[in-house]
Amino acid sequence: MNDLLEGFLGTSIEGKKSRVPAKLDYIQSATGLFLGLFMWGHMFFVSTILISKDFMNTITKMFEGSMFFAEPQPWIVSAIVLFVFAVFIVHAMLGMRKLPITFRQYQAYKTHMGMMKHDDTTMWFTQAFTGFAMFFLGSAHLLMMAVKADEIGPYGSSERMYADVMWPFYLLLLLGG
Ligand code: HEM
Repeated sequence: MNDLLEGFLGTSIEGKKSRVPAKLDYIQSATGLFLGLFMWGHMFFVSTILISKDFMNTITKMFEGSMFFAEPQPWIVSAIVLFVFAVFIVHAMLGMRKLPITFRQYQAYKTHMGMMKHDDTTMWFTQAFTGFAMFFLGSAHLLMMAVKADEIGPYGSSERMYADVMWPFYLLLLLGG
């Protein structure tokens, strides 16, 4: 068991270096890239509301298959959300490996950060903190979008933001993301 654990963490199994950590890092980067590119598209589509409610409506209906079906099919949006959710979970699971899990590890990182005074090293703390918050905020948002896909659009989304007072949640999600 100990051997297995060490292998997972990148030391060795029976004296041989394990390739598993490098592969996991690769998948972490690939899923991260996918989510980053997805977020560009996401912010573009959501911000169509700033142009007009009709424009956002057209885009919403496009995702509901308006080009192929006479009636809106919000299940298509739910399916997309579930796919993104799966990638999100894999990315979070792999990112979790990097978080300090004991006080000793946390202290080692803090000392290193103080010594290095290097922007990327310092920023990593913010990355770990916001990443942790994303576990919860991102999951809540994705679940909401998956089950309420039919309520996405200029009216439903505005109602959620304003009348349902979801804007503080979205503000945190925006800052965290
Ligand atoms: C396919 C998956 C997703 C769909 C369909 C989706 C859809 C939406 C929609 C329709 C809104 C407008 C508010 C609402 O209707 O409640 C919104 C807002 C937002 N979403 Fe997503 N979302 C997805 C994934 C994500 C992910 C993975 C993140 C980041 C972890 C994210 C971050 C945000 C943020 C920060 C806002 C607020 C944007 C603003 O400033 O107005 N979304 N999303």
